Amino acid sequence: MRITDKFGRPLQDLRISVTDRCNFRCTYCMPKEIFGKDYPFLPKSQLLSFEEIERLATSFVKLGVKKIRLTGGEPLLRRGLPELISKLSAIEGLEDIGLTTNATLLEKLAGELKGAGLKRINVSLDALDNKLFQSINDSGISTERVLRGIDKAQEVGLHVKVNMVVKKGMNEHEIVPMAKFFKEKGITLRFIEFMDVGKTNGWDFSKVVTKKQIFDQLSSHFKLEQVDPDYIGEVAKRYRYVGSNTEVGFITSVSESFCSTCTRARIAADGKLYTCLFAAKGFDFKDFLRTGKSDEELEKQIITIWNQRTDRYSAERTEESAKNKDRIEMSYIGG
Ligand code: GTP
Ligand code: 5AD
Ligand code: SF4
Ligand code: SF4
Repeated sequence: MRITDKFGRPLQDLRISVTDRCNFRCTYCMPKEIFGKDYPFLPKSQLLSFEEIERLATSFVKLGVKKIRLTGGEPLLRRGLPELISKLSAIEGLEDIGLTTNATLLEKLAGELKGAGLKRINVSLDALDNKLFQSINDSGISTERVLRGIDKAQEVGLHVKVNMVVKKGMNEHEIVPMAKFFKEKGITLRFIEFMDVGKTNGWDFSKVVTKKQIFDQLSSHFKLEQVDPDYIGEVAKRYRYVGSNTEVGFITSVSESFCSTCTRARIAADGKLYTCLFAAKGFDFKDFLRTGKSDEELEKQIITIWNQRTDRYSAERTEESAKNKDRIEMSYIGG
C-alpha cells in the first residue's frame, strides 16, 4: 500500500530511535551543562520494547515503508540491539536496514550486527585530530577507537559512510583532511550543515558552514562531479571524485532544504511518532500499543496522521522561526 501526505509525499522511510541516551556529549547536540547527571532520561518502562517496535515497524512496512534506520542517542547502548535487527530483518517487504552510530561500541558489535541482518551503518565523526575530536565529543573517546570500529565494520562486510557535522569555529579546518583520509579509504564522507534542532545547542545562522563554503574548500584540492540521486527524496547531495568511485555528500538542511521530497517518519524511543525532525508534538503510539489496540486500528491511525501531514520546516525556516520554535532534542528524536 502507498499512502501520501497533503503535499503528495509518500511514506517510505522510518527512523526509529531506540534510546535517548548517549556516551558522548557532543557540544552541538548534548552539551554537558544540560545533559548532566540529573538529566531526566527516559526510564526503561517508557521505552518501546523490541516486540512493540517490531509490531509498529510491521504496520509501517505494510503502509509503504521500504527503509528503516535505527538511531538514538547512541543506538548501540541499547542492550541486545542485534536481536531487534533480526526481528526487523524478517519483516516481509522491508528492503533496507541501516544504523547511525558514534561507533564506540562498533568494534565489539559489528560482527553480531551484520549476522543479524544489518546492511549499512553511518558513523558520526567530526574530526580526525584527536584533541579536537575529544573536545567536541566531550567524553574522552579517541578518534582511534572510532576508526577501529569503522575498520571492523568494513571487515565484516557492512557498508560504511561517515557523517561530519561542520560548525563554524569548531572544525572547518578538518574538512580537507577528513576528505583526503576517507577518499583514500574509499568511504563516502558526508558533510552536514549545523542544524537548529532542539533548544539546547546554541544554534544560530552565523555558526552554519554552508554546502557552498565546504564545496569551495574541497574544490581547491579535488575535482568533483555531481552524481544523480539514487531515488527521489535522497537526503544527501552526492558528488564523486573525478576518476574514482568514491563519493562525498552534503546534507543541506539549512542552505537548500529537501522538504519537498521528504518521505520520512520518526519514532522516538518512547514510541511517539513525529512527521518532521523539527516537530514539536508527536503521537503516542506506546499508549496506543499498551491499551490493546488491533493492528487495523494501528494502521488506520498511521494513515490518518500521514494524510494530514504538512511539515516543511527547513523550507520555511527564517532566523526568527529558528529562534522561537518549540522543538524537541536531536538525541531524543534520533536525527
Ligand atoms: P542514508 O540512508 O545513508 O542516506 O542515511 P541518512 O542520511 O538519511 O541518515 P543519517 O542518520 O546518517 O543522517 C544524516 C544527517 O541527515 C543527520 O544530521 C540527520 O539529522 C539529517 N537528516 C536525515 N533526515 C533528515 C530530514 O528529513 N530532515 C533534515 N532536516 N535532516 C535530516
Ligand atoms: N545539526 C546537524 N547534525 C547533527 N547531528 C547531531 N546534531 C546535529 C545538529 N544540530 C548529527 C550527528 C549524527 C546525525 C544523526 O546527526 O552527528 O551524525
Ligand atoms: Fe554526539 Fe550523536 Fe551522541 Fe548526539 S547522539 S551526543 S551527535 S554521538
Ligand atoms: Fe522532512 Fe522536516 Fe527535514 Fe523538511 S525539515 S526534510 S519536512 S524532516
